[in-house]
Parts: sequence; C-alpha cells; structure tokens
Amino acid sequence: MSAVDTQSMHLLVTGANGQLGQCLADQLRAQGITHTLLSRQDADINDTVVLEKIIGDKGVTAIINAAAYTAVDKAESEAELAKRINEDGPAALAKLCSRFDIPLLHVSTDYVFDGNQQTPYAETDQTAPTGVYGQTKLNGEIAVQRHCSKHIILRTAWVFSEYGNNFMKTMLRLAKERDTLGVVADQIGCPTYAGDIAKALISIAKQLHDAEHNKSGAQADYGVYHYVGDEPVSWYGFAVAIFEEAHKRGSLKSIPIVNAISTADYPTPAKRPAYSVLRTAKIGQDYDVLPSEWRAACERLSLT
Ligand SMILES: NC(=O)c1ccc[n+]([C@@H]2O[C@H](COP(=O)([O-])OP(=O)(O)OC[C@H]3O[C@@H](n4cnc5c(N)ncnc54)[C@H](OP(=O)(O)O)[C@@H]3O)[C@@H](O)[C@H]2O)c1
Repeated sequence: MSAVDTQSMHLLVTGANGQLGQCLADQLRAQGITHTLLSRQDADINDTVVLEKIIGDKGVTAIINAAAYTAVDKAESEAELAKRINEDGPAALAKLCSRFDIPLLHVSTDYVFDGNQQTPYAETDQTAPTGVYGQTKLNGEIAVQRHCSKHIILRTAWVFSEYGNNFMKTMLRLAKERDTLGVVADQIGCPTYAGDIAKALISIAKQLHDAEHNKSGAQADYGVYHYVGDEPVSWYGFAVAIFEEAHKRGSLKSIPIVNAISTADYPTPAKRPAYSVLRTAKIGQDYDVLPSEWRAACERLSLT
C-alpha cells in the first residue's frame, strides 16, 4: 500500500481539455487527489508569468504536462506552431519546475523513433524522428532533460479514449458511414488507453512524492520511461478489434468489410514509423506500472 500523504500533494495538469488531460481529471477526482486543471484557455504553457503565480499560490508539488501539438500531418506545414507547443512550452515548464524544485512529468511519443528496428524499442535506443511532429517532441524531451533534473518523460503511443479525436472514434464513425474500409496493415504499434496512461502518471507522481518526503525510504527514479499497450498490432488489426468489440456490445449494428492496405496505398504528409513497439520493462521495474491492457479497455469503453 502507498504511504503517500495525498493531502500534501498538489498536482497541476496542463492540457486538461485533451484526451489524456480529461482522463487525468477523472482519475484525480476519483482518487481524491488535490489538483489544478489548466486548459489552453486557462493558461498557455508558454505563459511563464501566469504559471509561476499559480504554482506559487496553490503550492503545486508536481506538474503533469498533457499539453501538446498532436496533429501529426498538419505539423509538416505548421512547424513553427508545433515547435512553440512541443519544444518551447516544455522548456518553459521545465525551467519553472526547476525554480520551484518540483518534478515535471512530461508526455512524449513513439514517433521519436524511425521504426526501422524489428524488436521493441528500449528507452536507450537511438532516436531518429521521421517528421516534424516527432522532431519537435524529441526536442521537447531534450529541453526537459536540460532544464529540469527532476523529470519523468513518459513515451506513449497510439492513444485512444472516450475523449477527443482518436483512431477508435474515427473508425467507429466510418463504420457507420461505409460498408467497406481500407486500413493500413504494415505499421505496427501498441494501442494505449489514455485512462491507463493517466493512472500510470498519477502512480509515478505519488511514488515521487513519497520518495521526496522520504516516507517509504525509496529513492526517486527520474528519466525516460516507455508506457504503451500490452500487445503489438497493426492499425488494421486494431480496427478489426474495435469493430468486433463494438458489435458485441451492440453499439455497431454490422461490421464493415475491412481491407488490409499498405502505407504506400495511403500516402500522408508525415512519414510514420513502420514499427514503433516500445519496451515497457523499465517502468514495471522502477514503478510497478504494468502495460495498458488495450483490448480490455476497448471492451469497457461504450462509445456509440
Ligand atoms: N494521441 C496520440 O495518439 C499520441 C500518441 C503518442 C503520444 N502522444 C502524446 O500524448 C500526450 C497527450 O496527447 P493527447 O492525445 O491527449 O493530445 P490532445 O487530445 O491533442 O490534447 C492536447 C491538449 O493540449 C492543449 N494545448 C495545445 N497547445 C497548448 C498550449 N500552448 N498551452 C496549453 N495547452 C495547449 C490542447 O488544447 P486545444 O484543445 O485548445 O488545442 C489540447 O487540449 C501528448 O504529449 C502527445 O504528444 C499522443
């Protein structure tokens, strides 16, 4: 059982209106943890003056940065904006955390890798993004590492949830509009439920809080961690699983014909890694956090 005194912990969440942000809000409420949620409208992550006041006034003990520019294809033509949100924003947050001597839990992506490997990527494997989004996220990681020693960088992938825009929701919408769909079958990754990412981040934040206050005698482990779903699959395989679950639940009347297509058949402005399976052993060892059971999450979600 955790020895964390959640009363003295105050988590600040940026990007609170995104899909991960909303899952974090749900979890923090459910766990009774004191928190402050900031949407982009409440405070831009680059607005150091506003954030500094909030951190000081509320006595924030750690920041979880769920804010990001996530439009992978659009980033190719909006590089400046993507840089501002994915590089400059995390850099500003990292400097603030360092000034207040509090941890920054920052979220990154499998798209920092080029996908040429054929075995799961470890945290120490060579990064080589293939597009603007991945490059700005990697630069954001570097900035966080440079400016804040108390950092957790959680790389995740293929995020889905009941909130926002994601592959699951797109597939379910298309299934109601069309009888036949083509879905890419030569990109392999690990779907990850945003609610599980939220739980993982909160669990780490609690353990860091514990270690910082020396309640458990444990040392705080900072650094880069991979956190994704427990089973690699192609987008095609993910789509089939989504349809089968929705059909079983009765939220999808009939399953469309799903054709496996290749990346070459579905050109996009940004090149994506063909293989971006992440190894999750380190987060298990250091924080006792298990991979996201994405099929179980698909089963639980009652999207219509
Ligand atoms: N989605 C995926 O498949 C995926 C895969 C791998 C990694 N990730 C990473 O996971 C994290 C969470 O992703 P997500 O899917 O939850 O993203 P999301 O739904 O796009 O949410 C991002 C949120 O950040 C906010 N935001 C953007 N610019 C901001 C700024 N300058 N200041 C404050 N807030 C700002 C957005 O506000 P607006 O709504 O106003 O734009 C949005 O609410 C990100 O770090 C992302 O890179 C995601």
